[in-house]
Amino acid sequence: MHIRTEREEDYSQIYEVVKKAFEKAEHSDGNEQDLVEKLRKNKAYINSLSLVCEDNDKIVGYVMFTKNKIGKVTGLTLAPLAILPKYQHRRLGTLLVKSGLKIAKELGYEYVVVLGNPKYYNRFGFVTSKEFGIKSPFDVPSKNFMALNLIDNDDREDLNAVVEYPKPFLK
Ligand SMILES: CC(C)(COP(=O)(O)OP(=O)(O)OC[C@H]1O[C@@H](n2cnc3c(N)ncnc32)[C@H](O)[C@@H]1OP(=O)(O)O)[C@@H](O)C(=O)NCCC(=O)NCCS
Repeated sequence: MHIRTEREEDYSQIYEVVKKAFEKAEHSDGNEQDLVEKLRKNKAYINSLSLVCEDNDKIVGYVMFTKNKIGKVTGLTLAPLAILPKYQHRRLGTLLVKSGLKIAKELGYEYVVVLGNPKYYNRFGFVTSKEFGIKSPFDVPSKNFMALNLIDNDDREDLNAVVEYPKPFLK
């Protein structure tokens, strides 16, 4: 298995991977593959944080981190994360997220937010976003709206802000 940045020639394969992964997902609006395409054209897009997981030459997993605004801070949104059904439960999702978080930290991003299952995201250190004063603009249970602080800072103040998402996330 190999993790690398996405390239233009991967786009059609990525579309299928995301579509297939979310077909059987617990929570899906069926449009996650289109969200990826829209985000690529948005200024929130970061190529170095759009990662594929390859098995030989086949793309089997994908993750995207895009820019958001949390008050004055530029943060990241982790979405979508998708592993082909046949390849799930083999730690590839974990590998993709950990690889992305490492790059995000190196690039100096402080906060990552994610909407998802806490049982899955707790393992990376995500906690309910309320702990940082980060609020969701969506009407979702607070336990599902999580944030991770990538920079150790004891003097950190609550951000007390609602996350501003780029247009593709807003219906
Ligand atoms: C969720 C997903 C990305 C996980 O990737 P993965 O490679 O299968 O997961 P990993 O192998 O890294 O981790 C497996 C662990 O996650 C748990 N897990 C897998 N899918 C889960 C889910 N949807 N919710 C909660 N926990 C989940 C498993 O129980 C397992 O935990 P354990 O090993 O401690 O028992 C993948 O199942 C997927 O693509 N699902 C469909 C799309 C989706 O729901 N994406 C997430 C949107 S937030």
